[in-house]
Amino acid sequence: MNMNSISVLKLVLFIFWPWLVNSKGEQNRLLVNMTLVQNATALGAYCLDGSLPAYHLHRGFGAGVDNWLLQFEGGGWCNDIKSCLDRSKSNHGSTRYMNKWEVFSGILSNNASFNPDFYNWNRVKIRYCDGASFSGDAKFYNGTSLLYFRGQRIWQAIILDLLPKGLGHAKKAMLSGCSAGGLATFLHCDNFTSYLPNNASVKCLSDAGFFLDERDIALNHTMRSFYEGLITLQGVEPNLNLNCTSTLYYPHLCFFPQYALPFIETPFFILNSAYDVYQFHHILVPPSSDPRRHWDHCKLNVTACDTSQLNILQGFRIDMLTALRDFYQNSTRDGMYINSCFTHCQSETQDTWFAAGSPRIHNKTIAETVGDWYFSRNISKEIDCAYPCDTTCHHMI
Ligand SMILES: *[C@@H]1O[C@H](CO)[C@@H](O)[C@H](O)[C@H]1NC(C)=O
Ligand SMILES: *[C@@H]1O[C@H](CO)[C@@H](O)[C@H](O)[C@H]1NC(C)=O
Ligand SMILES: *[C@@H]1O[C@H](CO)[C@@H](O)[C@H](O)[C@H]1NC(C)=O
Ligand SMILES: *[C@@H]1O[C@H](CO)[C@@H](O)[C@H](O)[C@H]1NC(C)=O
Ligand SMILES: *[C@@H]1O[C@H](CO)[C@@H](O)[C@H](O)[C@H]1NC(C)=O
Ligand SMILES: *[C@@H]1O[C@H](CO)[C@@H](O)[C@H](O)[C@H]1NC(C)=O
Ligand SMILES: *[C@@H]1O[C@H](CO)[C@@H](O)[C@H](O)[C@H]1NC(C)=O
Ligand SMILES: *[C@@H]1O[C@H](CO)[C@@H](O)[C@H](O)[C@H]1NC(C)=O
Ligand SMILES: *[C@@H]1O[C@H](CO)[C@@H](O)[C@H](O)[C@H]1NC(C)=O
Ligand SMILES: *[C@@H]1O[C@H](CO)[C@@H](O)[C@H](O)[C@H]1NC(C)=O
Ligand SMILES: *[C@@H]1O[C@H](CO)[C@@H](O)[C@H](O)[C@H]1NC(C)=O
Ligand SMILES: *[C@@H]1O[C@H](CO)[C@@H](O)[C@H](O)[C@H]1NC(C)=O
Repeated sequence: MNMNSISVLKLVLFIFWPWLVNSKGEQNRLLVNMTLVQNATALGAYCLDGSLPAYHLHRGFGAGVDNWLLQFEGGGWCNDIKSCLDRSKSNHGSTRYMNKWEVFSGILSNNASFNPDFYNWNRVKIRYCDGASFSGDAKFYNGTSLLYFRGQRIWQAIILDLLPKGLGHAKKAMLSGCSAGGLATFLHCDNFTSYLPNNASVKCLSDAGFFLDERDIALNHTMRSFYEGLITLQGVEPNLNLNCTSTLYYPHLCFFPQYALPFIETPFFILNSAYDVYQFHHILVPPSSDPRRHWDHCKLNVTACDTSQLNILQGFRIDMLTALRDFYQNSTRDGMYINSCFTHCQSETQDTWFAAGSPRIHNKTIAETVGDWYFSRNISKEIDCAYPCDTTCHHMI
């Protein structure tokens, strides 16, 4: 290619760039700035490293001015001193290292053509900096190293900060979150309801937060052990659902959504893939369960999985649907969308939430199904057929 054709290419790109960006739905990208919760010190609510917790708020307007959507950020967990110390020096453990501006897309978008039902609500993204899904209450100090495990207090500090900003007289409200934030939604849903007016309509949505209590392929309880370490280190147990912990023989298990779910009183929507990539890689086939790395290709690219690997993945899907059977059958106030895509988190990205090529079940997008459930327009319990039948998926490769 000579210089001339490069200049022509540059010119073409320059002219068509806005169109290219527009075609991906990224034009009008909404960036929202960070609010540090100054009053958090009064509650001892700190990030792992002692920095102040934070959220990003974009105000509602028009008919949505009294409605509030709170969205927990996700980002895994830390379950021992070393992993929490590492985390405290990163954007997952300290607001010092976080982006001060966040993109609001998908369920957080302010544009009706990208987010038909929640675009005009007050929308809040709650930053994740405690490493225990906003549920710990402890502190580590050995003379040299200091770590705050104060997720529960961060949750409370943020709610108390938002109540006088209008949350306290909300007409409609929804608590949501993705991944570790989706798990936080299960843990805090009823507590959220308790802060809102009795006549408000309050519901909760978990995206990719239905982490299963499942053995890995070596038959070890890898995830159970991981959560046990986390619960002990961060002092989580007193903050779990009391009805659950007083019923179960092993109260720690109430950290798993499948055990806490029957005790949640607020209407709930579960959005999850039956082949959630995080669960596949960390619960079903963690590195410790596959020392000879037979699964490496399959993990990166599902079309490279062999028949026995696919059978194991189909078994995981069946176990997830079994854990959700009562939830599916019992109640009409709840909703679900369990699709069959190799993915993780589908409500925050525009492509998967609501776009021309978004995933669909029975021709309904995730945004339409969540909206139908929230506004009681229709029964919203969708279960996809098993992999590979769904051609609308955006598989991670
Ligand atoms: C950032 O957010 C604060 C509220 O925390 C607001 O007062 C301020 O005007 C915002 N700054 C910009 C540049 O938008
Ligand atoms: C919403 O997005 C559409 C399609 O990109 C655009 O035409 C419209 O101007 C946007 N509206 C607002 C309020 O940003
Ligand atoms: C405190 O804990 C850190 C991290 O585990 C360790 O590196 C350090 O040596 C400990 N300090 C003391 C005095 O035990
Ligand atoms: C909600 O959680 C806070 C702590 O974050 C606690 O003080 C309060 O009692 C809880 N409310 C209910 C109704 O459980
Ligand atoms: C912070 O706390 C003080 C004392 O409790 C209270 O008077 C003040 O209104 C609070 N400020 C905010 C922004 O919540
Ligand atoms: C709830 O009750 C308050 C006080 O009576 C009223 O101002 C508010 O509009 C009501 N909200 C809804 C959603 O009905
Ligand atoms: C997993 O289980 C095997 C036996 O099934 C055991 O030898 C191994 O130590 C376990 N690995 C881990 C990481 O727990
Ligand atoms: C659903 O119904 C079954 C049978 O009536 C009951 O045992 C179970 O606890 C219920 N589950 C939930 C989530 O309400
Ligand atoms: C939780 O326990 C309280 C107090 O015992 C009880 O009133 C409530 O009905 C229980 N909720 C559920 C969902 O079991
Ligand atoms: C995925 O694996 C299949 C089968 O092994 C292969 O044909 C394909 O090229 C791979 N795709 C990518 C993106 O690596
Ligand atoms: C699927 O829904 C779209 C609108 O979202 C509609 O245009 C299309 O006709 C529907 N397809 C089928 C097969 O119903
Ligand atoms: C409700 O859902 C059913 C099944 O998906 C569909 O056939 C019907 O058209 C929907 N009704 C409305 C009002 O959207």
